[in-house]
Amino acid sequence: MSCSIRIPADRLPARGGRSLLHHEKGIILLFDIDGELHAIDDRCPHAGASLFSGRLDGRWLQCPAHGLRFDLATGCPAGIKGFGLQRYEIEWRANECYVVLARQEVPA
Ligand code: FES
Repeated sequence: MSCSIRIPADRLPARGGRSLLHHEKGIILLFDIDGELHAIDDRCPHAGASLFSGRLDGRWLQCPAHGLRFDLATGCPAGIKGFGLQRYEIEWRANECYVVLARQEVPA
């Protein structure tokens, strides 16, 4: 059984926007890209920097600390294998949005 967190309506990012969701185990960063929600840990897998202020280019997010770029759809950094963002599934249930706290595997 997976654990999930309901995203309060005022925490849902506006179209093209981003928001933070604090929970007991960390901080989740939410993006709305063209109406599609993406949820990741607000922690870069390289050295732990917050990704909140990272530059977004389409679905590519650039870490503000050292510049690695990550594909929000896969979690993978450009040109590097073996690690990536911790991503979470989004689920809608009865008009409420949830982040599912099961780890999404990084593609090999
Ligand atoms: S901490 Fe993100 S690229 Fe180094």
